[in-house]
Amino acid sequence: MLDFAAMRATLAEAYDLAPSLTLAEEMRDIHARMDRVMPLPDFARHAPYIRAINRLKAEKNAVILAHNYMTPEIYHGVADVVGDSLQLAVEATKVEAQTIVQCGVHFMAETSKILNPSKTVLIPDMQAGCSLAESITAAGIAEMRAKYPGAPVVSYVNTTAEVKAASDICCTSSNAAQIVAALPEDTIIMTPDQYLAQNVAKQVPHKRVVWWAGSCIVHEQYTPQDLREFRALHPETRIIAHPECPPDVVAEADYSGSTSGIIDYVTREQPSAAMLVTECSMASNIADALPAVEFVGPCNMCPYMKKITLEKILWSLHTGGQEVVVDPVISTKARVAVERMIELSRKIAQ
Ligand code: 13P
Ligand code: SF4
Repeated sequence: MLDFAAMRATLAEAYDLAPSLTLAEEMRDIHARMDRVMPLPDFARHAPYIRAINRLKAEKNAVILAHNYMTPEIYHGVADVVGDSLQLAVEATKVEAQTIVQCGVHFMAETSKILNPSKTVLIPDMQAGCSLAESITAAGIAEMRAKYPGAPVVSYVNTTAEVKAASDICCTSSNAAQIVAALPEDTIIMTPDQYLAQNVAKQVPHKRVVWWAGSCIVHEQYTPQDLREFRALHPETRIIAHPECPPDVVAEADYSGSTSGIIDYVTREQPSAAMLVTECSMASNIADALPAVEFVGPCNMCPYMKKITLEKILWSLHTGGQEVVVDPVISTKARVAVERMIELSRKIAQ
């Protein structure tokens, strides 16, 4: 557990972290990327942290990999690479810096460590979990194998290293359907997201897809009624849903895809209004790049992703703390499942 009082006292001694409008003005190039969603006085509170983190990163030969659900000050202020789960895993294989600071949730940091056993991987808050990753253990995988003998296990990357090690191959929201379609077996076990599995089953009707009953606490909250009501009020709005949403929600949407798929779709289509049926930071992060698009409708916050803050990133870099460690035997087995996914994804994209 982080000791917030001690952390703040130490940081205040080591860095000038007082809010500064002057500094915010000097850093207008960074603020310009989030101008639409963050007034300058708010940015003035973040600017000293952004300056300190970017200096420390260079000093300590560190790189920041950040998920699309990070807040704008992280996404635009300090991240070296941003992306969805697949892109972050692929980028992790290319990192040259000795230290990776993973701004996302714990399974993402574990994936980076699995792919880079000799590097130091830090996560600014060890409590940044995931309801899907917490829903299944290796014993759950064994249970599914016993129930469906001979069926391969495709585990979402939103799982622990132990679960990945017990699986045949991983998938992300951007390649799940293609991976299931590419496997030779007729029955496929998908864990742990029941809704992703049900959405994939619709896309790959010639396969029998069976699933574990996990769900994402952010996406399971949406209902088809929400989307229908919204469409009735704002008919011109393009509705875009993440495949972790229940299938009856996805059925109401104009498009469904991974977080980067969603960004690509809105960027390509430039609708006059868009409702992103996913985590709240998504719309905030792309609002300035897409000034012609009005982002409307409700969004849900991921409490795990929101545990990552500039203050904790600075602390992690300052102390080298919150290092992610994966048992080497588990790591070797988990790497096989992750690398199979990356390899198959590459082949599918060719
Ligand atoms: P993607 O970014 O791979 O679409 O995943 C979304 C998510 O919920 C990550 O936790
Ligand atoms: Fe997990 Fe859902 Fe949060 Fe993603 S948004 S980290 S799947 S709880």
